[in-house]
Amino acid sequence: MMSIDEAIKGRRSIRTYKKDEVKEDLVREIIEAATFAPSAKNGQQWRFTVLTGESKDKFTDMYRSELDKLTFDVGSSYGSCTMMKEAPVVIVVWNTNKLGWSTEIHSVSAAIQNLLLKAHALGLGTCWIGDILYTSEGIVDYFKKPWKLLAAITVGWSDANPKPRPRLSVNDVTEFLS
Ligand SMILES: Cc1cc2nc3c(=O)[nH]c(=O)nc-3n(C[C@H](O)[C@H](O)[C@H](O)COP(=O)(O)O)c2cc1C
Repeated sequence: MMSIDEAIKGRRSIRTYKKDEVKEDLVREIIEAATFAPSAKNGQQWRFTVLTGESKDKFTDMYRSELDKLTFDVGSSYGSCTMMKEAPVVIVVWNTNKLGWSTEIHSVSAAIQNLLLKAHALGLGTCWIGDILYTSEGIVDYFKKPWKLLAAITVGWSDANPKPRPRLSVNDVTEFLS
């Protein structure tokens, strides 16, 4: 089994996937790992919508047309849209946001990190996509959910071997007070 350090340090954002299917059992396994995250007041604010096949194509078409309506610079969003179209699985991640606390966002983010690490341990590539938040309203309307959109995650068998992205050191990001 992969060590915690191998999982944490070996994970990369994967943006190119093989066409091979990802079995639903594996998707269930990574979502189960997500559900073991800590959460504010144990509120377990995470919800997931798993898209494959036609549901994924319809979603990415809708997302693209929502992006087309925007008049400001949407950065890498069209690239993220293509990535979702080409990945075998897209998981839309929701925050039930019952109390409207910012800590509810933290809970769902912790769940996503668990999911990414478990996927990596199973040999699957993933990418966390925040770009969909530019079109949050349209996406929430499309799925008719009473929740807040948090992110999407692409999942698939990696067809890339990206180098590690640079990291700040512990010294760069930490002050030790005594
Ligand atoms: C909150 C969040 C939003 C992100 N949104 C996107 C995105 O929309 N599109 C994308 O390609 N990558 C996205 N990423 C992936 C980051 O670009 C990536 O994690 C970062 O560059 C570090 O690379 P690594 O994950 O390979 O370590 C996002 C990551 C996080 C945590």
